[in-house]
Formats: sequence, C-alpha cells, structure tokens
Amino acid sequence: TNYTVVIVAAGQGKRMNAGRNKQFLMIGERPLIVHTLQAFTKDKECREIILVTNESDEEDMRGLMNRYKLPKIKLVHGGKERQDSVYQGLLAVSDPHLPVLIHDGARPFVKKENVHELVKRIQEDQAALLAVPVTDTVKQMKDGKLQTLNRDQLWAAQTPQGFSYDLIKRAHEKAQKDGFYATDDAALAESFGYDVSIVHGSYDNIKITTPEDLQKATAYVNK
Ligand code: CTP
Ligand code: MG
Repeated sequence: TNYTVVIVAAGQGKRMNAGRNKQFLMIGERPLIVHTLQAFTKDKECREIILVTNESDEEDMRGLMNRYKLPKIKLVHGGKERQDSVYQGLLAVSDPHLPVLIHDGARPFVKKENVHELVKRIQEDQAALLAVPVTDTVKQMKDGKLQTLNRDQLWAAQTPQGFSYDLIKRAHEKAQKDGFYATDDAALAESFGYDVSIVHGSYDNIKITTPEDLQKATAYVNK
C-alpha cells in the first residue's frame, strides 16, 4: 500500500552535544539522516518523502542528497518544537488520500516490515504507531509518593506513527488552538478522541539522542 512519509530533522540535537545537528553525525559510512532517508527511498510503496529541516541546515542537507543520490525528497523548514516541524511537513503533503507516516530523522534503523505492517493497520484503524513492550520496571513519583506502574500495560512509543491525513492534520490544528504540546503525534490523536492502535515494533529502532546512543548505533551497523 502506498504512503507518504514526513521525516522531522529540524531539531538542535542538544543532548548529543556535538556542536551541530546530530543528523549529520556519521554512523559507520553514512550520516545518520542518510540512513533514515534510505530506509524510505528504497521502498517502492513510499510515494513521497518530505524532509523537515532547519533553514541553517538546508544547504548541507541538499549536499547530502546529491552526494548519496537520494531521489524524490521535498525539503521544508521546521519550527520551534517538534510538533511545529511536523505540522510544516504535513502542509507540504501532495496527496491527502494517502496515509501519512511521521518519522524521526533520528531513528535510522526502522525496518521495512514494520513500516508495511503499520501502513496496513492504518488502512483499518486510521491511527497507529510502532511501539515495543517496556523492559524496565517503571516507577512514578507522584505527590512525593513512589508508585510502581504495571509493566504489562506499558509500551515505549517509537516512530513512524501513521494516520489518515485529515485526521492528523485536524488533530494538530486543534492542539494549536488549545496551546497543547505533546512529544509525539499519537498523543494529539488520542487527545482528539481517536483510538490509536499499537503495531509491535523492533528494539533495534532506537532514537539516537545521546553520545551513548551513537556508540550503540555504530556497533549495530558494524555487526
Ligand atoms: N525535531 C524537529 N524540530 C524540532 C525539534 C525536533 O524536527 N523543533 C526532530 C529532531 O530533529 C529529531 C526528532 O524531532 O529527528 C526527535 O527529536 P529529538 O530526538 O528530541 O531531537 P533534537 O530535538 O534534535 O534533540 P535534543 O532534544 O537533544 O535537542
Ligand atoms: Mg528534542
């Protein structure tokens, strides 16, 4: 099934502490963002790729597209928060009839099987995300009292997250109106009253956030 993907890469990468946007850091032989883009340029069912980038990174991003011969990518500028960047990406989508996936530029190891399963699920449920069962015991400190959450009910959300185009666009616009900011797009759909389904993802689909993650990622591509 055909789909569109919006890839958000317009952050600062502050926690990586690399002095520049982490998207350009090398993982093995290629920059992080090139790994992520190639996961989709290699997929025939991916009909459009929208890459959301900082204005100051645009030239370097275009340079990577040339160097790695990446086809069919539309570049748009991001916003202050991740959510603002996603919305700019959504505005650039050409075909509102295709399901749209929203994916972090910082997740280079997403697997095609998982993407296809997600797209299939959106056909039925209109809103779905990749997630994996939490393996740590998670504690919650609430009003000075420690509680233990039931691990059997906890999932770690990943991207891509996928939606019918109109649904997620309207959820974003409602959130803007309410001044509501969330760390992922599923949360906007949830708060908009939609049921979001979980598609079991892969533990390899990590988000590269800290220098330790970069080390793990390098070990992963070298294995
Ligand atoms: N992102 C974005 N626009 C923003 C903020 C984040 O497009 N205003 C993107 C990042 O580029 C990243 C993804 O959202 O691919 C997930 O965000 P995160 O891992 O937090 O990346 P950064 O915000 O860049 O890192 P940090 O929070 O450490 O500064
Ligand atoms: Mg961030």
